Amino acid sequence: MTDSFIRDLGEGLIIRRSTAEDAQALAEFNVQIHSEDAWDARGLKDWTLDLINGEAPTFNEDDFLIVEDTRTGAIVSSSCLISQTWSYEGVPFKVGRPELCGTKKEFRQRGLIRAQMEILHQWSFARGELAQAITGIPFYYRQFGYEMALNLHGGRSGFKTHVPKLADGEEEPYTFREATSTDIPFLIATYNRGCQRSMISAVWNKHLWVYELTGKRPYNINRREFFIIEDQSNSPIGFIGIPTLRWRDNSVLTVYELASGYAWSSVTPSVARFLWAHGETQAEEQGYPQERFGFMLGKAHPAYDVITSCLPCRHPVYAFYMRVPDLLAFLHEITPVLEARLTDSSFDYYTGEVRLGFYRNGIKLAFKNGHLNTIEKIDADALDDITANFPALSFLQLLFGYRGMDELEHAFVDCFARNEESKHLLNTLFPKKHSDVWPIS
Ligand SMILES: CC(C)(COP(=O)(O)OP(=O)(O)OC[C@H]1O[C@@H](n2cnc3c(N)ncnc32)[C@H](O)[C@@H]1OP(=O)(O)O)[C@@H](O)C(=O)NCCC(=O)NCCS
Repeated sequence: MTDSFIRDLGEGLIIRRSTAEDAQALAEFNVQIHSEDAWDARGLKDWTLDLINGEAPTFNEDDFLIVEDTRTGAIVSSSCLISQTWSYEGVPFKVGRPELCGTKKEFRQRGLIRAQMEILHQWSFARGELAQAITGIPFYYRQFGYEMALNLHGGRSGFKTHVPKLADGEEEPYTFREATSTDIPFLIATYNRGCQRSMISAVWNKHLWVYELTGKRPYNINRREFFIIEDQSNSPIGFIGIPTLRWRDNSVLTVYELASGYAWSSVTPSVARFLWAHGETQAEEQGYPQERFGFMLGKAHPAYDVITSCLPCRHPVYAFYMRVPDLLAFLHEITPVLEARLTDSSFDYYTGEVRLGFYRNGIKLAFKNGHLNTIEKIDADALDDITANFPALSFLQLLFGYRGMDELEHAFVDCFARNEESKHLLNTLFPKKHSDVWPIS
């Protein structure tokens, strides 16, 4: 047995950690399982190699799980955990992101991913991660304790005819240049400013920015090329991020932020023109004729509002799967946010209990003069006088601001608050708020 061995699954299959020697075989495996065309394949290969080469700031070479058929030495199933920090309205919390889950066709439906999820959850717990987040196929991850509870994807796009035109004789008011490492303080400050629009966001520190700008392989499926937007005096006023791998016929940007003091309405038309021009070059390189340009900036973004008629096509919003294995610990962590939400609300200086019921058990939050003094479990035999009942994992939708109480009551007949006052209190503590998270990959 090697150090990487974790578990014997019988019939010649073992689960083990990855090592640097797995790099090429794992890249081929991920390409075979997850790619749809040659460019996808390139992107997945680069991503896998980037992760397993141990240079990503939050990923080590042994952070993949591999199910190996010891009779042939082949990889038959795999997954990994990408650790990161997110922010809950300013309070950082650690998150584990299971990714690249896949099993060879002939080995599916035998519990190989289920067994790996158990191990990834143990790793995540040991790393002090209070939540796990997955971008995954519909329904599947619910089986492992996840609820779809946070916006993911979504955007707007238009065709060539929608690219805003300069007036006759008008000069392009803003220019674009590739970002370099010296731009990192500006990128961090401007990105952090944008995070104020999002209740939940990922924390992009200096190491992550350096890696994004200089560390990733060119066509890593999760790599973006960053461009600094400059005004006519060559001062940086914002930035955009464009995936190096084209989204087929759609030239998209997936990050766009402006520094304080600049108007979305005056900069965004220049951004659209640059995006189209850049897309022409990428299209030639990657062999997909450019049909559209897209602002894939999530469910909502200021850019959508200022050039709405230039972006007539809407792309649907999906959802992150979220798992919070220890709700007590999570609520402890976000106590400053909960107290701040009460301040200056109708429940300022609130004294009383909020009793969250989950049918089999519950959680009591005891407030005194607006301070959250106690957070404790309610056992099955003490589920009386409940403030609101939540079936299954529906409370996570409220916790992450994804749905408000009215929407939950509408969607789940067994979700209900005791009375209108209780509902107002819950909507104050856990308001519905916008989030679009750009996760660490
Ligand atoms: C989805 C996928 C990873 C599942 O792998 P697997 O090894 O068959 O998964 P498991 O057997 O561990 O699945 C656990 C449970 O889910 C069930 N299941 C398997 N595939 C499922 C699916 N697509 N949808 C719903 N349930 C599924 C299994 O039957 C099993 O049920 P049980 O525990 O009640 O017996 C695999 O089908 C795959 O590689 N698909 C292509 C790549 C992909 O889509 N990956 C996910 C990217 S997010």
